[in-house]
Amino acid sequence: MEQVTQNQAIPMPRIGDRAPSFKAVTTQGEINFPDQYAGSWVILFSHPADFTPVCTSEFMTFATMEQKFVGANCNLVGLSVDGLYSHIAWLRTIKEKIEYKGMKNVEVKFPLIEDITMEVARKYGMIQPGESQTKAVRAVFFIDPKGIIRAIIYYPLSLGRNFEELYRVLVALQTADAYGVAMPADWQPGDDVIVPPAGSCGTAKERMEGKDQDIKCYDWFFCTKKLPKEKVEEALKRGGRK
Ligand code: BEZ
Repeated sequence: MEQVTQNQAIPMPRIGDRAPSFKAVTTQGEINFPDQYAGSWVILFSHPADFTPVCTSEFMTFATMEQKFVGANCNLVGLSVDGLYSHIAWLRTIKEKIEYKGMKNVEVKFPLIEDITMEVARKYGMIQPGESQTKAVRAVFFIDPKGIIRAIIYYPLSLGRNFEELYRVLVALQTADAYGVAMPADWQPGDDVIVPPAGSCGTAKERMEGKDQDIKCYDWFFCTKKLPKEKVEEALKRGGRK
């Protein structure tokens, strides 16, 4: 009960907030978060515990995909409430012993934060007492080059994340920034995107009359346009910059 009270005292960061700052020890040395990532995107994610099966499958998958995220100007930073030596031993075991779904000799090169005091996990609302008082849930924070939280996803202990979906979220955020558009349900690069409300590019009437050949309107409030995959890829190469 005391834990619940403590957690309630710390407001959970929200989308649009500045990412709470902290210094911590990691498997790659000390980090100063998020300042040292200024100018790049960063995904801060937590896992419940080292030497557990779901987390092992997640780390192997994320580490295997790391270069794809780096190619989109995005760094990865993990965290659990385990200590540094546990992290080191677990990552060594993954590399030396685990072969899973065709992945083997997987080296986790991104930093993994030790947070035995749970200070960082609490700052980021990763301890959710109804799920666990002693472990972080599977939280994912997308932080932009200015240090602003742009998306947050939480999963329970029993559900491993879909890392292709995390990549899709990163690509969508960068595409939205680069082209001033929004993404419809299930959007994938190459699909049509949603254009801003009427006024910013033509009146509702002009749009509905089809004056702009590139824009397709389903009603006055719902218009899309084509955004070729190559344009999305160009934006990613610029790290989501305009
Ligand atoms: C897992 O990663 O397998 C796991 C960790 C904590 C609780 C349940 C599952």
